[in-house]
Amino acid sequence: MSSTQGTDENRRLLRTLKGETMWPPPIWLMRQAGRFLPEFRALREKADFLTRCMTPDLATEITLQPIRRFAMDGAILFSDILILPWAMGQSLQFIDKRGPVLEPIRSEADLARLDPARIEERTAPVAETLRRVRKALGEQVGAAAPDTVTLIGFAGAPFTVSCYMVDGGSSKEFAQTRLMAFREPALFDRLINLLMETTASMLADQIEAGAQAVMLFDSWSGLLPPHEFRRHVINPTRQIVQSLKSRYPDVPVIGFPRLAGVMAPEYARETGVDAMALDTGADLTTIASQVRSDLVLQGNLDPVAVLAGGKAMIREALAIREAGKGRPHVFNLGHGVLPETPTEHVGELIAALRTV
Ligand code: CP3
Repeated sequence: MSSTQGTDENRRLLRTLKGETMWPPPIWLMRQAGRFLPEFRALREKADFLTRCMTPDLATEITLQPIRRFAMDGAILFSDILILPWAMGQSLQFIDKRGPVLEPIRSEADLARLDPARIEERTAPVAETLRRVRKALGEQVGAAAPDTVTLIGFAGAPFTVSCYMVDGGSSKEFAQTRLMAFREPALFDRLINLLMETTASMLADQIEAGAQAVMLFDSWSGLLPPHEFRRHVINPTRQIVQSLKSRYPDVPVIGFPRLAGVMAPEYARETGVDAMALDTGADLTTIASQVRSDLVLQGNLDPVAVLAGGKAMIREALAIREAGKGRPHVFNLGHGVLPETPTEHVGELIAALRTV
Protein backbone atom coordinates (compact mmCIF):
# COMPACT_ATOMS: atom_id res chain seq x y z
CA MET A 1 0.00 0.00 0.00
CA SER A 2 1.19 3.49 -0.83
CA SER A 3 1.02 4.64 2.80
CA THR A 4 4.21 2.73 3.51
CA GLN A 5 6.17 4.45 0.73
CA GLY A 6 9.16 6.46 1.95
CA THR A 7 9.49 7.53 5.55
CA ASP A 8 7.62 10.18 7.48
CA GLU A 9 10.83 11.66 8.82
CA ASN A 10 10.83 14.63 6.42
CA ARG A 11 7.08 15.15 6.40
CA ARG A 12 6.84 17.94 8.95
CA LEU A 13 3.09 18.33 8.59
CA LEU A 14 2.38 14.63 9.10
CA ARG A 15 4.66 14.50 12.16
CA THR A 16 2.90 17.51 13.65
CA LEU A 17 -0.53 16.00 12.98
CA LYS A 18 0.66 12.90 14.84
CA GLY A 19 1.39 15.06 17.87
CA GLU A 20 5.00 16.25 17.57
CA THR A 21 5.84 19.86 18.33
CA MET A 22 7.87 21.40 15.47
CA TRP A 23 9.47 24.79 15.08
CA PRO A 24 8.77 26.62 12.88
CA PRO A 25 5.32 25.07 12.45
CA PRO A 26 4.43 23.40 9.13
CA ILE A 27 2.22 25.44 6.77
CA TRP A 28 -0.53 24.91 4.27
CA LEU A 29 -3.51 27.13 3.40
CA MET A 30 -7.15 26.34 2.86
CA ARG A 31 -8.05 27.04 -0.82
CA GLN A 32 -4.36 27.14 -1.68
CA ALA A 33 -5.29 25.74 -5.09
CA GLY A 34 -7.68 28.43 -6.19
CA ARG A 35 -8.43 31.53 -8.16
CA PHE A 36 -5.68 33.65 -6.55
CA LEU A 37 -3.15 31.61 -8.60
CA PRO A 38 -2.71 32.76 -12.24
CA GLU A 39 -1.89 29.17 -13.27
CA PHE A 40 -5.23 28.05 -11.74
CA ARG A 41 -7.12 30.76 -13.61
CA ALA A 42 -5.49 29.61 -16.85
CA LEU A 43 -6.80 26.03 -16.40
CA ARG A 44 -10.16 27.39 -15.32
CA GLU A 45 -10.70 28.75 -18.84
CA LYS A 46 -10.29 25.25 -20.25
CA ALA A 47 -12.82 23.22 -18.25
CA ASP A 48 -15.75 23.76 -15.88
CA PHE A 49 -15.37 23.06 -12.18
CA LEU A 50 -16.83 19.53 -12.11
CA THR A 51 -14.71 18.54 -15.12
CA ARG A 52 -11.61 19.86 -13.37
CA CYS A 53 -12.47 17.78 -10.27
CA MET A 54 -13.23 14.63 -12.27
CA THR A 55 -10.30 14.65 -14.73
CA PRO A 56 -7.24 13.19 -12.98
CA ASP A 57 -4.80 15.05 -15.30
CA LEU A 58 -6.34 18.40 -14.41
CA ALA A 59 -7.03 17.71 -10.72
CA THR A 60 -3.49 16.39 -10.20
CA GLU A 61 -1.97 19.44 -11.86
CA ILE A 62 -4.13 21.86 -9.82
CA THR A 63 -3.35 20.05 -6.53
CA LEU A 64 0.37 20.44 -7.27
CA GLN A 65 0.27 24.11 -8.36
CA PRO A 66 0.63 25.63 -4.87
CA ILE A 67 3.33 23.08 -4.00
CA ARG A 68 5.40 24.09 -7.02
CA ARG A 69 5.12 27.76 -6.25
CA PHE A 70 5.37 27.83 -2.44
CA ALA A 71 6.62 24.38 -1.34
CA MET A 72 3.71 24.11 1.11
CA ASP A 73 4.04 21.35 3.72
CA GLY A 74 0.64 19.97 2.73
CA ALA A 75 -1.07 19.27 -0.59
CA ILE A 76 -4.87 19.20 -0.32
CA LEU A 77 -6.71 17.18 -2.93
CA PHE A 78 -8.42 19.38 -5.51
CA SER A 79 -12.08 18.40 -5.25
CA ASP A 80 -15.15 19.68 -3.43
CA ILE A 81 -17.36 18.74 -0.49
CA LEU A 82 -20.33 18.56 -2.89
CA ILE A 83 -18.83 15.72 -4.90
CA LEU A 84 -20.46 13.30 -2.42
CA PRO A 85 -24.09 14.34 -3.07
CA TRP A 86 -23.27 14.54 -6.79
CA ALA A 87 -21.88 10.98 -6.65
CA MET A 88 -25.16 9.80 -5.08
CA GLY A 89 -27.04 11.25 -8.05
CA GLN A 90 -28.13 14.68 -6.78
CA SER A 91 -27.89 17.15 -9.67
CA LEU A 92 -25.12 19.73 -9.18
CA GLN A 93 -23.89 22.69 -11.17
CA PHE A 94 -21.37 25.39 -10.30
CA ILE A 95 -22.54 28.71 -11.68
CA ASP A 96 -20.21 31.69 -11.92
CA LYS A 97 -20.76 34.35 -9.23
CA ARG A 98 -23.53 32.27 -7.70
CA GLY A 99 -21.71 29.13 -6.60
CA PRO A 100 -23.17 25.62 -6.37
CA VAL A 101 -26.77 24.90 -7.37
CA LEU A 102 -28.35 21.56 -6.42
CA GLU A 103 -31.84 20.15 -6.85
CA PRO A 104 -32.98 20.37 -3.21
CA ILE A 105 -33.83 17.35 -1.04
CA ARG A 106 -37.07 18.16 0.79
CA SER A 107 -38.94 14.87 1.21
CA GLU A 108 -38.66 11.17 1.90
CA ALA A 109 -39.02 10.56 -1.87
CA ASP A 110 -36.14 12.95 -2.68
CA LEU A 111 -33.97 11.17 -0.13
CA ALA A 112 -34.93 7.74 -1.49
CA ARG A 113 -33.66 8.74 -4.96
CA LEU A 114 -30.09 9.12 -3.68
CA ASP A 115 -28.03 6.07 -4.51
CA PRO A 116 -25.01 5.47 -2.26
CA ALA A 117 -24.07 2.35 -4.24
CA ARG A 118 -22.83 4.59 -7.06
CA ILE A 119 -20.30 6.55 -5.00
CA GLU A 120 -17.23 4.40 -5.42
CA GLU A 121 -17.59 4.20 -9.19
CA ARG A 122 -18.41 7.89 -9.64
CA THR A 123 -15.51 8.99 -7.44
CA ALA A 124 -13.00 6.66 -9.11
CA PRO A 125 -11.30 9.69 -10.78
CA VAL A 126 -10.74 11.19 -7.31
CA ALA A 127 -8.92 8.03 -6.19
CA GLU A 128 -6.87 8.12 -9.37
CA THR A 129 -5.95 11.77 -8.69
CA LEU A 130 -4.78 10.87 -5.18
CA ARG A 131 -2.62 8.02 -6.52
CA ARG A 132 -1.04 10.34 -9.07
CA VAL A 133 -0.43 13.19 -6.63
CA ARG A 134 1.06 10.79 -4.10
CA LYS A 135 3.40 9.42 -6.73
CA ALA A 136 4.39 12.94 -7.86
CA LEU A 137 5.18 13.93 -4.27
CA GLY A 138 7.74 11.14 -4.13
CA GLU A 139 9.79 13.27 -6.56
CA GLN A 140 10.93 16.88 -6.46
CA VAL A 141 7.98 19.28 -7.02
CA GLY A 142 9.23 22.86 -7.48
CA ALA A 143 11.18 23.69 -4.33
CA ALA A 144 9.61 20.80 -2.40
CA ALA A 145 12.03 17.88 -1.97
CA PRO A 146 10.79 14.28 -2.45
CA ASP A 147 8.64 12.88 0.37
CA THR A 148 8.42 16.15 2.31
CA VAL A 149 4.82 17.06 1.46
CA THR A 150 1.84 15.45 3.22
CA LEU A 151 -1.19 14.61 1.07
CA ILE A 152 -4.50 15.62 2.65
CA GLY A 153 -7.84 14.11 1.61
CA PHE A 154 -11.12 15.68 2.74
CA ALA A 155 -14.88 15.65 2.89
CA GLY A 156 -17.58 17.95 4.14
CA ALA A 157 -18.96 16.96 7.53
CA PRO A 158 -22.56 15.69 7.40
CA PHE A 159 -24.24 18.84 8.72
CA THR A 160 -22.51 21.19 6.29
CA VAL A 161 -23.14 18.92 3.31
CA SER A 162 -26.81 18.59 4.35
CA CYS A 163 -27.05 22.41 4.27
CA TYR A 164 -26.26 22.51 0.55
CA MET A 165 -28.34 19.40 -0.19
CA VAL A 166 -31.49 20.71 1.49
CA ASP A 167 -31.24 24.43 0.76
CA GLY A 168 -30.06 23.66 -2.77
CA GLY A 169 -27.07 26.00 -2.80
CA SER A 170 -25.25 28.71 -0.87
CA SER A 171 -27.14 30.70 1.75
CA LYS A 172 -26.42 32.86 4.80
CA GLU A 173 -28.87 31.12 7.09
CA PHE A 174 -29.61 27.70 5.57
CA ALA A 175 -33.14 28.16 6.90
CA GLN A 176 -34.63 25.26 4.90
CA THR A 177 -32.12 22.86 6.38
CA ARG A 178 -32.61 24.03 9.93
CA LEU A 179 -36.39 24.01 9.48
CA MET A 180 -36.22 20.39 8.36
CA ALA A 181 -34.21 19.53 11.48
CA PHE A 182 -37.06 21.00 13.61
CA ARG A 183 -40.12 19.99 11.61
CA GLU A 184 -39.08 16.61 10.31
CA PRO A 185 -36.43 15.37 12.69
CA ALA A 186 -36.75 11.72 11.56
CA LEU A 187 -36.18 12.65 7.91
CA PHE A 188 -33.29 14.93 8.80
CA ASP A 189 -31.70 12.24 10.99
CA ARG A 190 -31.90 9.81 8.08
CA LEU A 191 -30.10 12.29 5.84
CA ILE A 192 -27.38 12.92 8.46
CA ASN A 193 -26.98 9.15 8.97
CA LEU A 194 -26.66 8.54 5.25
CA LEU A 195 -24.01 11.26 5.04
CA MET A 196 -22.20 9.88 8.07
CA GLU A 197 -21.88 6.41 6.55
CA THR A 198 -21.02 7.55 3.03
CA THR A 199 -18.50 10.12 4.27
CA ALA A 200 -16.68 7.52 6.38
CA SER A 201 -16.47 5.13 3.44
CA MET A 202 -15.42 7.84 0.97
CA LEU A 203 -12.63 8.99 3.31
CA ALA A 204 -11.51 5.36 3.70
CA ASP A 205 -11.31 5.16 -0.11
CA GLN A 206 -9.20 8.34 -0.13
CA ILE A 207 -6.83 6.85 2.45
CA GLU A 208 -6.54 3.64 0.43
CA ALA A 209 -5.65 5.77 -2.62
CA GLY A 210 -2.85 7.59 -0.79
CA ALA A 211 -4.23 10.37 1.46
CA GLN A 212 -1.99 10.57 4.55
CA ALA A 213 -4.38 12.69 6.63
CA VAL A 214 -8.02 13.66 6.17
CA MET A 215 -9.98 16.79 7.04
CA LEU A 216 -13.68 17.22 7.75
CA PHE A 217 -14.99 20.67 6.81
CA ASP A 218 -17.98 21.72 8.94
CA SER A 219 -18.23 25.26 7.59
CA TRP A 220 -21.75 25.94 8.91
CA SER A 221 -21.63 24.11 12.26
CA GLY A 222 -21.78 27.49 14.03
CA LEU A 223 -25.40 28.00 12.89
CA LEU A 224 -26.66 25.41 15.37
CA PRO A 225 -27.76 25.86 19.00
CA PRO A 226 -25.86 23.66 21.50
CA HIS A 227 -28.18 20.64 21.65
CA GLU A 228 -28.38 20.47 17.85
CA PHE A 229 -24.66 21.04 17.57
CA ARG A 230 -24.19 17.91 19.71
CA ARG A 231 -26.67 15.93 17.66
CA HIS A 232 -25.73 16.95 14.12
CA VAL A 233 -22.08 17.98 14.45
CA ILE A 234 -20.38 16.24 17.38
CA ASN A 235 -22.19 12.92 17.18
CA PRO A 236 -21.76 12.17 13.45
CA THR A 237 -18.18 13.45 13.54
CA ARG A 238 -17.38 11.10 16.42
CA GLN A 239 -18.81 8.15 14.51
CA ILE A 240 -16.84 8.99 11.35
CA VAL A 241 -13.64 9.33 13.40
CA GLN A 242 -14.32 6.01 15.16
CA SER A 243 -14.95 4.23 11.89
CA LEU A 244 -11.72 5.58 10.36
CA LYS A 245 -9.67 4.90 13.50
CA SER A 246 -10.81 1.27 13.61
CA ARG A 247 -9.26 0.73 10.18
CA TYR A 248 -6.53 3.38 10.03
CA PRO A 249 -5.44 4.19 13.60
CA ASP A 250 -2.36 6.10 12.38
CA VAL A 251 -4.06 8.41 9.88
CA PRO A 252 -4.70 11.80 11.50
CA VAL A 253 -8.16 13.35 11.25
CA ILE A 254 -8.49 17.14 11.26
CA GLY A 255 -11.89 18.60 12.20
CA PHE A 256 -12.96 22.13 11.26
CA PRO A 257 -16.06 23.14 13.24
CA ARG A 258 -16.22 26.63 11.76
CA LEU A 259 -17.82 29.30 13.96
CA ALA A 260 -18.33 26.76 16.76
CA GLY A 261 -17.40 29.41 19.34
CA VAL A 262 -17.99 28.18 22.88
CA MET A 263 -18.73 24.67 21.57
CA ALA A 264 -15.18 24.21 20.21
CA PRO A 265 -13.69 22.67 23.40
CA GLU A 266 -16.56 20.16 23.63
CA TYR A 267 -16.07 19.31 19.93
CA ALA A 268 -12.36 18.73 20.59
CA ARG A 269 -13.06 16.56 23.63
CA GLU A 270 -15.95 14.47 22.32
CA THR A 271 -15.25 13.82 18.64
CA GLY A 272 -11.84 12.14 18.89
CA VAL A 273 -10.27 14.28 16.14
CA ASP A 274 -6.48 14.48 16.28
CA ALA A 275 -6.45 18.10 15.19
CA MET A 276 -8.90 20.97 15.32
CA ALA A 277 -8.79 23.76 12.75
CA LEU A 278 -9.70 27.17 14.14
CA ASP A 279 -11.67 29.82 12.28
CA THR A 280 -10.63 33.47 12.09
CA GLY A 281 -12.60 34.52 15.17
CA ALA A 282 -11.11 31.93 17.53
CA ASP A 283 -8.35 32.97 19.94
CA LEU A 284 -5.60 30.37 19.69
CA THR A 285 -4.20 31.09 23.17
CA THR A 286 -7.62 30.78 24.83
CA ILE A 287 -8.54 27.58 22.97
CA ALA A 288 -5.10 26.11 23.75
CA SER A 289 -5.84 26.57 27.46
CA GLN A 290 -9.21 24.79 27.12
CA VAL A 291 -8.21 21.59 25.29
CA ARG A 292 -5.92 18.62 26.00
CA SER A 293 -2.25 19.49 25.51
CA ASP A 294 -1.72 16.90 22.75
CA LEU A 295 -4.58 18.15 20.57
CA VAL A 296 -3.07 19.60 17.40
CA LEU A 297 -4.37 23.08 16.63
CA GLN A 298 -4.50 24.39 13.08
CA GLY A 299 -4.97 28.00 12.00
CA ASN A 300 -5.93 30.75 12.01
CA LEU A 301 -4.72 33.88 10.25
CA ASP A 302 -7.49 36.09 8.86
CA PRO A 303 -7.58 35.64 5.04
CA VAL A 304 -8.12 39.42 4.84
CA ALA A 305 -4.68 39.94 6.43
CA VAL A 306 -3.19 38.05 3.46
CA LEU A 307 -5.23 40.16 1.04
CA ALA A 308 -3.84 43.27 2.80
CA GLY A 309 -0.26 41.95 2.85
CA GLY A 310 2.69 44.00 4.15
CA LYS A 311 3.67 44.58 7.77
CA ALA A 312 0.21 44.03 9.20
CA MET A 313 0.03 40.53 7.64
CA ILE A 314 3.50 39.59 8.90
CA ARG A 315 2.81 40.93 12.40
CA GLU A 316 -0.46 38.97 12.72
CA ALA A 317 1.09 35.81 11.26
CA LEU A 318 4.05 35.86 13.64
CA ALA A 319 1.75 36.49 16.61
CA ILE A 320 -0.24 33.36 15.70
CA ARG A 321 2.96 31.35 15.22
CA GLU A 322 4.08 32.53 18.68
CA ALA A 323 0.71 31.64 20.25
CA GLY A 324 1.09 28.08 18.96
CA LYS A 325 4.65 27.70 20.21
CA GLY A 326 5.31 24.77 22.53
CA ARG A 327 2.42 22.61 21.30
CA PRO A 328 1.68 20.83 18.02
CA HIS A 329 0.47 23.60 15.71
CA VAL A 330 -0.11 23.72 11.97
CA PHE A 331 -0.07 27.21 10.53
CA ASN A 332 -3.07 27.94 8.30
CA LEU A 333 -5.73 30.57 7.68
CA GLY A 334 -9.05 30.86 9.52
CA HIS A 335 -10.86 30.25 6.19
CA GLY A 336 -9.89 29.94 2.51
CA VAL A 337 -7.49 32.22 0.60
CA LEU A 338 -9.58 35.00 -0.98
CA PRO A 339 -9.58 34.94 -4.82
CA GLU A 340 -8.34 38.57 -5.08
CA THR A 341 -5.24 37.87 -2.95
CA PRO A 342 -1.97 38.87 -4.71
CA THR A 343 0.23 35.78 -5.09
CA GLU A 344 3.29 37.73 -3.79
CA HIS A 345 1.55 38.21 -0.44
CA VAL A 346 1.34 34.45 0.00
CA GLY A 347 5.03 34.11 -0.93
CA GLU A 348 5.97 36.77 1.62
CA LEU A 349 3.83 35.11 4.29
CA ILE A 350 5.45 31.70 3.79
CA ALA A 351 8.98 33.19 3.78
CA ALA A 352 8.36 35.08 7.05
CA LEU A 353 6.89 32.02 8.76
CA ARG A 354 9.86 29.88 7.78
CA THR A 355 12.37 32.39 9.18
CA VAL A 356 13.38 31.68 12.78
O1 CP3 B 1 -7.49 24.23 -2.21
C1 CP3 B 1 -8.34 23.64 -1.50
O2 CP3 B 1 -8.68 24.05 -0.39
C2 CP3 B 1 -8.85 22.28 -1.99
C3 CP3 B 1 -10.10 22.22 -2.70
C4 CP3 B 1 -11.42 22.65 -2.08
C5 CP3 B 1 -12.42 23.33 -2.82
N1 CP3 B 1 -13.53 23.41 -2.04
C6 CP3 B 1 -12.25 23.79 -4.21
C7 CP3 B 1 -13.21 24.77 -4.75
C8 CP3 B 1 -11.95 22.40 -0.80
C9 CP3 B 1 -11.28 21.77 0.41
C10 CP3 B 1 -13.30 22.89 -0.81
C11 CP3 B 1 -14.23 22.76 0.34
C12 CP3 B 1 -15.54 23.39 0.27
N2 CP3 B 1 -16.39 23.49 -0.80
C13 CP3 B 1 -16.22 23.92 1.40
C14 CP3 B 1 -15.69 23.93 2.82
C15 CP3 B 1 -14.71 25.01 3.06
C16 CP3 B 1 -15.31 26.40 3.09
O3 CP3 B 1 -14.96 27.17 2.18
O4 CP3 B 1 -16.06 26.70 4.02
C17 CP3 B 1 -17.46 24.40 0.96
C18 CP3 B 1 -18.53 25.06 1.81
C19 CP3 B 1 -17.58 24.10 -0.43
C20 CP3 B 1 -18.75 24.34 -1.33
C21 CP3 B 1 -18.41 25.26 -2.44
N3 CP3 B 1 -17.55 24.95 -3.47
C22 CP3 B 1 -18.88 26.59 -2.63
C23 CP3 B 1 -19.81 27.32 -1.71
C24 CP3 B 1 -18.28 27.06 -3.81
C25 CP3 B 1 -18.54 28.38 -4.50
C26 CP3 B 1 -17.79 29.50 -3.86
C27 CP3 B 1 -16.53 29.81 -4.60
O5 CP3 B 1 -15.49 30.00 -3.96
O6 CP3 B 1 -16.60 29.90 -5.84
C28 CP3 B 1 -17.42 26.03 -4.31
C29 CP3 B 1 -16.58 26.08 -5.54
C30 CP3 B 1 -15.11 25.80 -5.36
N4 CP3 B 1 -14.59 24.77 -4.65
C31 CP3 B 1 -14.04 26.52 -5.98
C32 CP3 B 1 -12.85 25.87 -5.59
C33 CP3 B 1 -11.44 26.21 -6.02
C34 CP3 B 1 -14.19 27.71 -6.92
C35 CP3 B 1 -14.73 27.22 -8.24
C36 CP3 B 1 -14.02 27.73 -9.45
O7 CP3 B 1 -12.79 27.72 -9.54
O8 CP3 B 1 -14.75 28.07 -10.38
